[in-house]
Amino acid sequence: MALVCVEDYEKEALRSIPKNALDYYRSGAGNEFSLSLNVEAFKRWRILPRFLRDVGGVNTACNVLGCRLSTPIGVAPTAMQRMAHDDGEIGNALSAGKIGGIFILSTLSTTPLEEVAAAAPNTIKWFQLYIYKDRSLTESMVRRAEKAGYKAIVLTIDAPYFGARRADARNKFKLPPHLGLLNFQGDQANSVKSMEGSSGINEYVTRQFDPAITWTDVSWLVKFTKLPVVVKGVLTREDALLARNCGCKGIIVSNHGARQLDSVPASIEVLPTIVDAVGNDMTIMLDGGVRQGTDVFKALALGAKAVFMGRPLVWGLAVNGQKGAEHVLELVQRDLELTMKLSGCVNISDITQEYVAHESQFSKL
Ligand SMILES: Cc1cc2nc3c(=O)[nH]c(=O)nc-3n(C[C@H](O)[C@H](O)[C@H](O)COP(=O)(O)O)c2cc1C
Repeated sequence: MALVCVEDYEKEALRSIPKNALDYYRSGAGNEFSLSLNVEAFKRWRILPRFLRDVGGVNTACNVLGCRLSTPIGVAPTAMQRMAHDDGEIGNALSAGKIGGIFILSTLSTTPLEEVAAAAPNTIKWFQLYIYKDRSLTESMVRRAEKAGYKAIVLTIDAPYFGARRADARNKFKLPPHLGLLNFQGDQANSVKSMEGSSGINEYVTRQFDPAITWTDVSWLVKFTKLPVVVKGVLTREDALLARNCGCKGIIVSNHGARQLDSVPASIEVLPTIVDAVGNDMTIMLDGGVRQGTDVFKALALGAKAVFMGRPLVWGLAVNGQKGAEHVLELVQRDLELTMKLSGCVNISDITQEYVAHESQFSKL
């Protein structure tokens, strides 16, 4: 049967990846309440279409943080993509380039950032960073990303520790021995290897991530790099204001695919508050639960300038390598175009709040 949507890819991937990897990709934190909420919350927004507007041609071109894009749909940073398929991060980066969207490379990638940059020179790439106890490691990652042509640093702020992912604990999750976290070089590479050999990535990360970082470190990063800094993982208006005051240029509203703290709101639930607080001063983006064109449309209508997908690209890779990832992006892109045609929006800038209504509005009727 033809695969025609992200859910089809997910079902197919569930059949093809080994349990250890599948559970790592699929799972959320705790009892996975927020994991289902990320998808469910999109359903609570309805689209209010307008008709007779000449939708003969729609255009999804947009400008995000100074990057000219053909689409606001991009690829979120997910760790260890070569566990899904050997095409891994390079396959996903090329796929994003093919539709003209942003690719964000995870720090915890199974391909070095320089190799991804060399293999996908025409893709707009951003680099996702954690701040490590060893600041020289943090600094060298930033300089390497700058040198390799990445266009923004995406600082993930919601992971001072990894969330409690029960499936990984049950499986005693480990990266398969033929793969490595290849952004770590020299001494760091050795410590990654030794950790993987003992109790896995969780222990390594717990030891290396600096749980003591504060907004002062964000200000330091903003001054240290010449690239725009985007903070990923903001869920409150208060943190959005702090990010703005530190000089960050963008925010990815995200709950880390519900993998950190369970019971947090879905990204789409808090998007309007954050747009209201800082939307005039910063570029607001979103990830979490985006699975189809209507989800993209709703996020844009509520003020996001771009959206990113995590798991869908892993499912695409798992099913058919780079071709699968490309197809997943094409399906969502085509679905966005159709949504625009059927709701009377020709350009991305036409998609505004008046095109969506929350379900609570209807229950009052
Ligand atoms: C398997 C997996 C690994 C992830 N690894 C990272 C990571 O290394 N860094 C990061 O900032 N976010 C990471 N994330 C979070 C994603 O960037 C993104 O926030 C999330 O996947 C979006 O939700 P979605 O999977 O519903 O699209 C990961 C998510 C998944 C599912």
